[in-house]
Amino acid sequence: MNPTSEFSTISSLLSEWYERNKRDLPWRNITDPYKIWLSEIILQQTRVEQGLPYFQSITNCFPTVEDMAKSSLDDILKLWQGLGYYSRARNMHKAAKQVMNEFDGKFPSNYEDLLKLKGVGEYTASAVASIAYKQPKAVVDGNVFRVISRLFDIETPINTTEGKKVFTKMAEELLDRKHPDNHNQAMMDFGATLCTPTNPNCMSCPLSGHCIAYTTGKIQNLPVKLANAKKQNRYFHYIFFTDGTYTWIQQRTQKDIWQQLWEFPLIESDREEHIETLFKRKDVSAWTGGHGTIGTPVSLKHLLTHRIIFAKFIPVHIENMGDTPVSWKKIKINELNHYAVSRLMELFINKYIL
Ligand code: ADE
Repeated sequence: MNPTSEFSTISSLLSEWYERNKRDLPWRNITDPYKIWLSEIILQQTRVEQGLPYFQSITNCFPTVEDMAKSSLDDILKLWQGLGYYSRARNMHKAAKQVMNEFDGKFPSNYEDLLKLKGVGEYTASAVASIAYKQPKAVVDGNVFRVISRLFDIETPINTTEGKKVFTKMAEELLDRKHPDNHNQAMMDFGATLCTPTNPNCMSCPLSGHCIAYTTGKIQNLPVKLANAKKQNRYFHYIFFTDGTYTWIQQRTQKDIWQQLWEFPLIESDREEHIETLFKRKDVSAWTGGHGTIGTPVSLKHLLTHRIIFAKFIPVHIENMGDTPVSWKKIKINELNHYAVSRLMELFINKYIL
């Protein structure tokens, strides 16, 4: 068989599989590019099951791109809370405004214009262009890398520039150009539910007869990924000041993780500090004015993609605070859950405070 007919055989087997097995998802069978874009932003680093409730609540609050553009970033971050990778939410808000200001309120309808939106890279632009507008662009996400690496036994590491090039070319060749919307979603569903990273269901796979890795027993070795650089350790010491009713929080403003989310006053250092050392510091002494009773600290280890956060939450009961920075906000403890916070803060608040 020549490669072209092999590709079209694979693609039509995949399409038959999709018709029988596709997941019933709220962003399918619609053509509203705003909702399709939103679903793709949510699903960028998130599994479908986890992203679903977020899709529902965000579309309920903001049924149109105009509603989203008019909302505040704080409202968006609150809705996004728990999904992680918060730059997605900030970019999403900027992109909604861009649609209103630069595209006259109409969602861009082609790949090149979609790429101009903040937070939209090649993957998302291809997904929206193909799913909302049936443009023949192949999506290449983690699922697609896996399926293609196994089908064609490609050992080029997927997290390299060369890998992106090789897999994108294969994905474009495999694309069903008449039905790019279904084809792309079929690849993603197939990778997510059948050709899974561990224990793929090769026994009921309609493509096994065309899968080189299956025939040669290499399924478990593919795809190849270069080891990531070692994770960075960070040491966060949060002080939970309270007089029993109020507490103090601040918003993260630096270009760093969790930008714009709220947290307790923080001391970050390059190692875990002793409590006594912390409370001898000039800044901390100024905050407490030398008062306060230190309670039992809670240590939590929090894993992010590129970092490990060793966090220590230190409760301090204090009736009269000393000098607090103007950027701090005094709020009622029972209002803590009105603010968008990191997953780490949320864990501490829900388990130890509320
Ligand atoms: N992952 C990302 N986008 C998806 C989609 N449209 N369908 C299924 N899985 C996805």
